[in-house]
Amino acid sequence: MLNITSISVTFNEGTQDEKKALNNIDLNLKQGDFVTVIGSNGAGKSTLMNVISGNILPDAGDVFISEKQVVNLPEYKRSAFIGRVFQDPMAGTAPSMTIEENLAMAYSRNKKRKLKYGVTKKRKDLFREHLQTLNLGLEDRLSAKVGLLSGGERQALSLLMATFTKPNILLLDEHTAALDPSRAELITSLTEKVVRESGLTTLMVTHNMQQALDLGNRLIMMDKGQIIFEAHGEAKQELTVERLLQEFQRIRGEQFEDDRVVLG
Ligand SMILES: Nc1ncnc2c1ncn2[C@@H]1O[C@H](COP(=O)(O)OP(=O)(O)OP(=O)(O)O)[C@@H](O)[C@H]1O
Ligand SMILES: [Mg+2]
Repeated sequence: MLNITSISVTFNEGTQDEKKALNNIDLNLKQGDFVTVIGSNGAGKSTLMNVISGNILPDAGDVFISEKQVVNLPEYKRSAFIGRVFQDPMAGTAPSMTIEENLAMAYSRNKKRKLKYGVTKKRKDLFREHLQTLNLGLEDRLSAKVGLLSGGERQALSLLMATFTKPNILLLDEHTAALDPSRAELITSLTEKVVRESGLTTLMVTHNMQQALDLGNRLIMMDKGQIIFEAHGEAKQELTVERLLQEFQRIRGEQFEDDRVVLG
């Protein structure tokens, strides 16, 4: 479903601020893989997401989605097959538009012929049906401006907008990090539900090691622009935070230094 080969990204090349954010990354995701991604600050996690979504053009390497080479496709052309939720609840929705207008925008994203902007009765019913699955009562607030929603409600709506058209790839970049614990838990369980029910191929960056262990069927650990450790299936299920920290120490010869990641 997603195949990345030999991806490198260098920022500010040739200057004093030169930074190799990704160093020769390979990654292959099968249909339905749910991969959690952990790593310290600056490891390159968001840069990897940006390369997949087309926000950043890599210096070298290839990106294939469903065997289609997309490395030179701009972001807006990839958006038909990529759903994305960001850390910032403000980033995924348009605040001055209503809930139904936001949903209509997301709905038309993967259609070849852009649909008329108007929201028909049939589509309203469809939106209501999807909103009901969130259990937040948003189905009764279709004409409310999104700017009036709480952070958790907006993030739930962002998740719905990113997933209800069943994208080939779902990218989640610390999408619960800006929420209070109970809201974060709600968004995490909604994520788990939608990924499971729709069988979405998902990459989820989390700063919480325990969450990375609890969710998904694969885990990757990044450090300094590289994938340094991976676990699948049963091997992943047997991992603990302690074992992950030991692995890091064994591979890198130093202790993992990011308390935010360890403690969640
Ligand atoms: N647009 C940019 N210009 C210059 N440097 C950048 C840019 N984006 C990222 N970097 C640098 O590249 C490195 C990787 O950044 P990235 O945002 O991918 O890390 P991350 O793993 O997502 O970290 P965090 O956990 O803090 O979100 C960092 O050193 C960062 O400062
Ligand atoms: Mg990041």
